[in-house]
Amino acid sequence: MNLPPGDLESGLQRLYFHSSERMPELPAASVDVIITSPPYNRGKHYHPSYSDRLLPEEYERLLSRVFRECHRVLRPRGSFFLNVGDSARDQGKSERVVRVAEEAGFQRVQTLVWVKSILGKGHYTPSGRGRNFSNIFEYVYLLARGPSPRIDVLRVGIPYADKSNIGRYSAQDLRDAGNVWFIPYRETTGPRRKKRHEAPFPVELPWRALRCVPGARRVLDPFAGTGSTLAAAESLGIEGVGYERFPDTTVLRERLQTPYPFAPTVLLPELERAVRLLARLLEARPGGLETALQGVRPQVRGEVQSLLERLGGSPTAGRRAGQPRPPKD
Ligand SMILES: C[S@@+](CC[C@H](N)C(=O)[O-])C[C@H]1O[C@@H](n2cnc3c(N)ncnc32)[C@H](O)[C@@H]1O
Repeated sequence: MNLPPGDLESGLQRLYFHSSERMPELPAASVDVIITSPPYNRGKHYHPSYSDRLLPEEYERLLSRVFRECHRVLRPRGSFFLNVGDSARDQGKSERVVRVAEEAGFQRVQTLVWVKSILGKGHYTPSGRGRNFSNIFEYVYLLARGPSPRIDVLRVGIPYADKSNIGRYSAQDLRDAGNVWFIPYRETTGPRRKKRHEAPFPVELPWRALRCVPGARRVLDPFAGTGSTLAAAESLGIEGVGYERFPDTTVLRERLQTPYPFAPTVLLPELERAVRLLARLLEARPGGLETALQGVRPQVRGEVQSLLERLGGSPTAGRRAGQPRPPKD
């Protein structure tokens, strides 16, 4: 692990390598959004000299100091997305963590659920060890300093599946995606591939949260880890400030310099396979998919092609020349 004494700057992002219990670099009311996931206090190995098994009172005191600083630096209409998960054997910890945030002055606006895996799509840690069900979701508490944080949920909206709803609730073909966010990890680690951090969240999680805040100019992550929040901020052209006591600058630099193409999660594995199979069957007919789609209304044709493209490609229609074949599920 690479441990420098200084701080790190990359693009619009700045990281301070000290505890976020004090954030003297940030003036009061200078941050529009906070997105973070605190240490789990469950024996994770962030660094050899860090104990992730503090006594519950010590852990809550640490969080309390950080959350009070967060409250100081957040603008009055700012929002705070606090991600915490329980493990199968440690139920209820998330609730204790969000109460500490409330005691620090935050109001609870809503509870979102981040689903990591559904019907076999997406990785999760088998925390149940065969005796309990594994926890395959975490909470994202939306907190605020005041009753009306600046949030626009349609900025991460989705089109209606049933188009007859257009005009029923609004004239747009757009509705909010709800408070359950399915965001699988893009990459997982196997027994032979070493993880470079114990507990990162997917960059798409802070990306979605940030997208919901119109006019956000500065985001803070007081427990920056690998810099996922800042990577999302960089991809959206937003300034980010992170604090991390035990940084790995190699990982941080790499993450902050990796562009994130955000293809939304499309379908469930079996359904994806069925769509790809259908595309392959059509492709195998004389004239291929192009011929099969001839005479089809341009709008429907466009929808078919865009779905195949998002899935990673049919033999021809969805895959651009030179693109690799998508991996098998
Ligand atoms: C759950 S991880 C955050 C992971 C991050 N969301 C990501 O995607 O990489 C919590 C991080 O907080 C860091 N940490 C623990 N105590 C801290 C403190 N007092 N100040 C700043 N960082 C701290 C740990 O080293 C760890 O990297």
